[in-house]
Amino acid sequence: MCGIVGYVGYKPVLDILLDGLEQLEYRGYDSSGIAVQCQDKVKVYKAVGKLKNLREELSPHAYEISKSTTGIGHIRWATHGAPTVVNAHPHTCNCGKLVVVHNGIIENYKELKLNLETKGCKFVSQTDTETVAHLVAQKYEITKNLTEAVKLATKEIEGAYALAIMHSDEPNKLVVTKRNAPLVIGVANNEFYAASDIPAFIKHTNRAIYLSDNQVATMTANTLKIEDIDGNIIEPKIEILPWEPVALSKMGYKHFMLKEIHEQPDVIRNILVDKLHSSELPIILDEVKLTKETLKDLNRIQIIACGTSLHAAFIGKYIIESFCAIPVDVEASSEYIYRKTVTDSHTLVIGVSQSGETADTLTAVKQSKERGSHILIITNRPDSAMAREADSLLSVNAGIEVSVAATKSYIAQLTSFYLLALYMAEIKGTMKPDILENLKHEMLVLPQKIEQILANKDNIRDCARKYSGTRDFIYIARGINYPTALEGALKLKEISYINATGYPAGELKHGPIAMLDETMPVLSILMKGCVYDKILSNSEEAKARNARMIALTNSSDKKLDDLFDFIIRVPEVDELLSPIIAIVPLQLIAYYIAEFLGKDVDQPRNLAKSVTVE
Ligand code: F6R
Repeated sequence: MCGIVGYVGYKPVLDILLDGLEQLEYRGYDSSGIAVQCQDKVKVYKAVGKLKNLREELSPHAYEISKSTTGIGHIRWATHGAPTVVNAHPHTCNCGKLVVVHNGIIENYKELKLNLETKGCKFVSQTDTETVAHLVAQKYEITKNLTEAVKLATKEIEGAYALAIMHSDEPNKLVVTKRNAPLVIGVANNEFYAASDIPAFIKHTNRAIYLSDNQVATMTANTLKIEDIDGNIIEPKIEILPWEPVALSKMGYKHFMLKEIHEQPDVIRNILVDKLHSSELPIILDEVKLTKETLKDLNRIQIIACGTSLHAAFIGKYIIESFCAIPVDVEASSEYIYRKTVTDSHTLVIGVSQSGETADTLTAVKQSKERGSHILIITNRPDSAMAREADSLLSVNAGIEVSVAATKSYIAQLTSFYLLALYMAEIKGTMKPDILENLKHEMLVLPQKIEQILANKDNIRDCARKYSGTRDFIYIARGINYPTALEGALKLKEISYINATGYPAGELKHGPIAMLDETMPVLSILMKGCVYDKILSNSEEAKARNARMIALTNSSDKKLDDLFDFIIRVPEVDELLSPIIAIVPLQLIAYYIAEFLGKDVDQPRNLAKSVTVE
């Protein structure tokens, strides 16, 4: 939530900051702002809404800023105070010499504010961040040294923060620090970058330093000093980043979301390539660091995640329990962390997170780690804070996902769960060899089946067009595809703002059926298998209430033609693997409906891709 960038070097800073912020827009887009060093002054520019508004705001000033080579920038996802220009970052102290951008939440900002007000500070915004500007400025009065002032101030701050700070009395210098929020420094020749995430500078350099909590970095064009808040010097560890700038292009697709949906067959191939070679060979999962003996003895697994990752976790539970006969609990991280939980050293805890930064999941993982559980992290960001907590790290390698609505990272999480479940089943000997072999074979052909769906997407687009005028949408399924219904509904909600809900089909008659009439579309996920006939009966019940019936099915059953107004057919697949096939048309329905409605598909309102606040 919120993104920060900083640059100090010899190149004009304006484009570096704006391009960097554009790459961070997935973190929020309520407002944006920059501060740049212009001779002995720091100048601040802000705008409400998307980054293009800031670009417009800046265009009359482009010449006066053109020589500046030091600056900071911010893109906001509002937490404290409405998205207004006054609340936009950077924030300044009262004399205007010190500027700060912040990602995170200052939890004790009210106490700090009261104290600072008694010392004469005048607050202009409703943000928690403004307290940092005044607090560091107060410390600067004493120390006359920006780094020392930041170190003193952060000792008084509680909460989460990544901060980038400048002071006009120390021109062409940047001080950055962090606690429980991401911050990475990009290293190039005679220039340094700082950002919440690497896409902000990856096109300039792939050499990076991940700052740890409570470390403070002071940068000029050709010097970098990292120390902890007590002044102990830290030797910088430069890592080479794996990301390619090309991944950030739409490659001819109208939206990143559509491009990312189309990447899914290759995402699965990439994951399987060195782990599942053929149906006869065992799965190789060197990333799992539990010994075979421990895995055999494992008697409980706890999975924690949020949002789309939580839906992947529900499917993970279903398959681990089916394949390995180990009881699995799944819980939303935000619920897990505020109750007495019983994970201990005998529990395997699996944290699932596309971003690896989600605050609730990160906290839940840290709590479980403290209790001695083995932590297995499934993430698309092996460079994230969560990955750093992992005892076993399953990096899903989906490539960077720009669209706020998760698609390919979900398929990648599912694929990783299947590999993990099959791997554990092989070790524990809990599956019949012919069933195991058949599932492995089916996994290897999943990418082609998704390609068939994508080749027939015009039918799905027609379905989306037909139902795009609806205000509500119900998805029903049972068994392993109940989470698919939840995920399909979430996709539609988040990008089209239609009120979509996923139900277990058998629950319909216990309440939700009251909502059905001729205006309500009901989409039944009807995959051949043990609950097929049951869902069919539940669909009949909905049809009898005049609902507008849609089927997503891999059956060629002629009966469906009378029951359903619209049928989306997908290739046949083993029921146990069907969630990987069934989700693709649902992603496309959500995409096309949002597109027909003219919504901002890649950056839906009120959302951000990386949720670093609890
Ligand atoms: C929905 C979506 C969110 C995330 C959730 C958790 O498309 O992306 O629901 O799944 O915010 O994020 P991660 O997976 O990064 O922990």
